[in-house]
Amino acid sequence: MKGKAKLEPKKEIEEQKKYIEKVEEINKKEAPKYSILTMGCQQNENDSEKICGMIEQMGYEKATNQEEIDLAVINTCCVRENAEDRLFGKLGELKKLKEKRGTIVAIGGCMMQEKHITKKIKESYPFVDLIFGTHTLHRFPEDLFKVLEEKNKLTDILDIDGKVYEGLPIKRESKVKASVTIMNGCNNFCSYCIVPYVRGRERSRAPKDIILEVEDLAKQGYKEITLLGQNVNSYLRVERENNIPFEEYQGVHSFATLLEAINKIEGIERIRFVSPHPKDFTDDVIEAIANCKKVCKLVHLPLQAGSTKILKSMNRKYTKEDYLNLVQKMKNKIPNLTLSTDIIVGFPGETEEDLEETLDVVKKVKFEQVYMFIYSRRVGTPGDKMENQIPEEIKHKHFNRLKELVESQISENNQKYVGTIQEVLVEGVSKNNKNTLTGRTDSNKVVIFEGNINELINKVVKIKIVSEHMWYLKGEVVNG
Ligand code: 5AD
Ligand code: SF4
Repeated sequence: MKGKAKLEPKKEIEEQKKYIEKVEEINKKEAPKYSILTMGCQQNENDSEKICGMIEQMGYEKATNQEEIDLAVINTCCVRENAEDRLFGKLGELKKLKEKRGTIVAIGGCMMQEKHITKKIKESYPFVDLIFGTHTLHRFPEDLFKVLEEKNKLTDILDIDGKVYEGLPIKRESKVKASVTIMNGCNNFCSYCIVPYVRGRERSRAPKDIILEVEDLAKQGYKEITLLGQNVNSYLRVERENNIPFEEYQGVHSFATLLEAINKIEGIERIRFVSPHPKDFTDDVIEAIANCKKVCKLVHLPLQAGSTKILKSMNRKYTKEDYLNLVQKMKNKIPNLTLSTDIIVGFPGETEEDLEETLDVVKKVKFEQVYMFIYSRRVGTPGDKMENQIPEEIKHKHFNRLKELVESQISENNQKYVGTIQEVLVEGVSKNNKNTLTGRTDSNKVVIFEGNINELINKVVKIKIVSEHMWYLKGEVVNG
């Protein structure tokens, strides 16, 4: 089946709630078990929380071991190539489970918007029951019902959608931090990036829906909110520029005013956002970050490349100097500002000299954290059609040079923390050592320390940093 015609969002969600009840009815005798594997970014994690919300309302419980899974969901990402290998590896495993106990296998997310991928799944993994895309996530209950009732394989993918769906149930992973999507899609078409093709055009959620969601999260006790979108600082820009009507709520009509409104919500202590685009970093946003106490002073500002020539062919719409000037302006206006970034090495045409430009920016800005990626060709993007592709070994060489610089900077930067007192939001017991707790600083550094979980969880606690370990800091609770 191809994607069916669309209903108005409100009606569509009402319809889906009926399907949730229908599947719940089927599952009423014995709660079946489900698993979910999420690949990719925070946006995908947020989508998975919505999928889990729907699944649990339909009467499923999370499986505790592989053998008992009745419904296996994979939420895919396609930003880089390695996710494909991972998906096909996982499908190999699930085939055995399908043969053994008839597990329903459902795959959704960004990769399912790519035709060559769905074709491959249908040809090579015919046991997959349900394929759904990024624009049909809200129809999961109906799709699952049809698979259960009609025992048919189903594909429900729409190429594009301009709608925003509200009111889906959500099952959040953490009780301390929550992410809130503020916009979907992207209009930037950076030439390496597949996102605009799989997530569609930019569309913002209504201010009221976002504010009510954050107020509700505050009531539930959440302390940290991360605002999500492919291009958060152009929130409501498409609507403003094209005179598309939207309702202002509590004065919110832009990203800066949204930060200001959320800053006023009682109970929320920290606000983060990912990812902004340097070209949309207007002065009002800088001022809002500086003035809003709860907005963390770590800003993630994707650089992608330091060479103006490469930035131009990446279609990033800023030069090396623009980026450095923006950073300087932000440093002047926002006390205690720290920065993190994304960098791609090995984009077509990248020479030694271009790499040097990237290293130069890294040296000058002194990022708190750098997420480093090797360029990966994505079918259908302009980057993939460029002729001057870089050989893999050169890409790796460039990557290693960047990594060396970044690691030496991080370890130098970490030294600055030792001896200081940091405000840490306590998230829970540390994964690797059950006797210690873990939390994060305003600058998003992981801090490990000893303490009583029941007393400290979900609180902002003063911690004295005693040592640094590259990817985390160790500290002690400051009493009094
Ligand atoms: N190859 C490598 N990295 C990529 N990213 C996006 N597309 C690609 C690609 N084709 C990186 C960018 C982006 C981050 C989420 O992923 O740095 O900011
Ligand atoms: Fe991709 Fe660029 Fe849009 Fe980010 S801004 S999602 S990198 S096209």
